[in-house]
This record gives sequence, structure tokens and C-alpha cells, in this order.
Amino acid sequence: MPESGAFLQPLSPTPENIARAGELLQDGQLVGFPTETVYGLGANATDDRAVARIFEAKDRPHFNPLIVHVPDMAMAQTLGRFDGRAKILVEKFWPGPLTVVVPRSETCPASKLVSAGIDTIALRIPADGLAQKILAAAGVPLAAPSANRSGKLSPTRAAHVANDLGTRVSMILDGGDCSFGIESTVVGLAGERAQLFRPGAVEAAAIEAIIGPLEQPGKSEGAMSSPGMLESHYAPERKLRMNVHDAGDGEVLLAFGPNAPDGAMRSLNLSPTGDLVEAAANLFAMLHELDSGPAKGIAVMPIPEAGLGIAINDRLRRASA
Ligand code: TXA
Ligand code: MG
Repeated sequence: MPESGAFLQPLSPTPENIARAGELLQDGQLVGFPTETVYGLGANATDDRAVARIFEAKDRPHFNPLIVHVPDMAMAQTLGRFDGRAKILVEKFWPGPLTVVVPRSETCPASKLVSAGIDTIALRIPADGLAQKILAAAGVPLAAPSANRSGKLSPTRAAHVANDLGTRVSMILDGGDCSFGIESTVVGLAGERAQLFRPGAVEAAAIEAIIGPLEQPGKSEGAMSSPGMLESHYAPERKLRMNVHDAGDGEVLLAFGPNAPDGAMRSLNLSPTGDLVEAAANLFAMLHELDSGPAKGIAVMPIPEAGLGIAINDRLRRASA
């Protein structure tokens, strides 16, 4: 992604800086901020483009679903559906380093990109005082993965964020060292059996003491080292053909760029200007829409294999396999 050039220094969390962070987040920009686990790379979770910018800044070669941070249970319930066991768990561990994966609510306002296109959402209320103030200032749910480039160590102090992402964010707030220093525990509560998607700051045994045994998906295959790959991703029902310049018989077209043909029975353009951030922001919503019609298949125009295009093509390749 283009570097802004300027290398940001972390700012102290004065009321003015916190208010400014809230404005930047509302405006769709990225802000590095502390939580009790690790520093997060925050963006407005309801803004498709802002969420796409997270993946761009992290150089992620694929779209992992992201954790959405909320200030309170009221906002959590606008995003996800909590069954009895989910309510009991979060009553005990929120605010704190427990993330629950629950079904998205019917009217969930979060970007489909935070869920990587599937119908669940990961939620947590952070306990850190500064994180809470930033959530209050922003007034929107915040998607926030750890604030490091893909493959680098998770940041536990503001200087780590500055070194890694200092040219790619609009602000970094300094809240000192994170008290836990490891990520939140992620528990899946969308299916019948509760699952441990990622071990973390809350001990699994403490969770099992309340809701019983946790299933550990993929543990035998060593998949716990890449928790982002554990959950099933959205795949369209229609057959998908990549790198084609026009739709064939019975196909709808997922176009990209200014040279989209207009012969297809139906066509949506990921980005008429060829902007990869816009394309990533539109990807899941457009795939869902094209997949719901009468078409036999979805033809996809070529998307450059660079920057966010790598993650977009990765997703499309899995969907066409
Ligand atoms: O401690 C933390 O949780 C930090 C701080 C900043 O809060 N955040 C963090 O976020 O680690 P992130 O987005 O990198 O964590 C993503 C984890 C991955 O293991 C991912 O697979 C899982 O949460 N996850 C997110 N949404 C999911 C979903 N819908 N289904 C299954 N797993 C999900
Ligand atoms: Mg991480």
C-alpha cells in the first residue's frame, strides 16, 4: 500500500487526542490503540472501506475474520445473537479478554468483510480504560486485529505499533504496556458445541468450568497455529470462473475496472476505477448478491495480483475450487 511518508509518533491520551481519534475513526481512518491484551489496529466496523484498509495496512494475503470491539452489551446485541450460554459467559468475562463468535443479528450493521463473508461475528468488550474511552469517542463498533504487519509479532507497547505501522495509520494512542500481552481467547458459540478457536488470555479451564467442555477444532492437524484458517469461509453456490473478460452463457459478471463489457445478463463492478480498497470493500456483498439470482455461474474479470488484490484473488480462488 502507499506509505504516507510521515512516520507517526504515538500520542499521549489527552481528552483532545481521544476526541480526535474518535473523529478519525468515524471518518473511516485507522487508529492504533491499546487494549489489555495487545495493541489493536482499529477501524469503524460498519464501514466497508475502513475495514478493507485494515487488511491493506497489515499486508494480509487473505481475509481473516476480525474481532469487533464494542463498549457495552447493548451494542453487542445489535451485532450478534446471544443464546443462554453466550450470555452467561460474557456476564462473567466482560469487560475482558474473551471473544465470543456468535451468529450475526438479522440487521447486523457490521461490514461483511469483518466476518470474511460468513454469518457469524466475533465480539468483545475490552477492559482497558483507554480502549473504552476510544470506543465511547468513536460511537461505533471497532474492528481491531493486532496492530502489526502480517507475520510480525503482536505489539504490546505503542512504540511497536509505530515501528511496524507508523506510516500506515492516522494516529497511534499510547496507553503504556498492555497488561496481558497475549491476545484474547476466542470461543465459538454459533454451533451446538462450544469451540475453542484460539487459546488466549482467559484460560480455557475457566470457561469450561462455566459452560462445560470446549471442542478444539483442528487441533490434531496442528491447525491451532493458524486460527484464522479454522473456520469455514463463505463459498458461493454458483460456479465461479476467474480471469475472464466477459460472461458466458447463463453467467453473471463480477467486473473490475473501467473496461467492463456490458453484454452480461447482470453485472456488478467491484471498482469501476480499479481501486483495490474499494474492490475489497465490495467483494463479499457483491458475491452474495450475484449468487442469489437465477444465474448458472459467476464470471470474474482479472484482478491485479498486488496489494489487496492478493487477498481478493485468494478468496476468489478458494471460492472457485
Ligand atoms: O486480543 C485480541 O483479541 C486482539 C485485541 C486488539 O483485541 N485482537 C485480535 O483480533 O487478536 P484479530 O482480529 O486478529 O483476531 C481474530 C481471531 C482469529 O483467530 C480469527 O480466526 C477469530 O478471531 N475470528 C474472528 N471472527 C471469527 C468468526 N466469525 N469465526 C471464527 N473465528 C473468528
Ligand atoms: Mg495478530
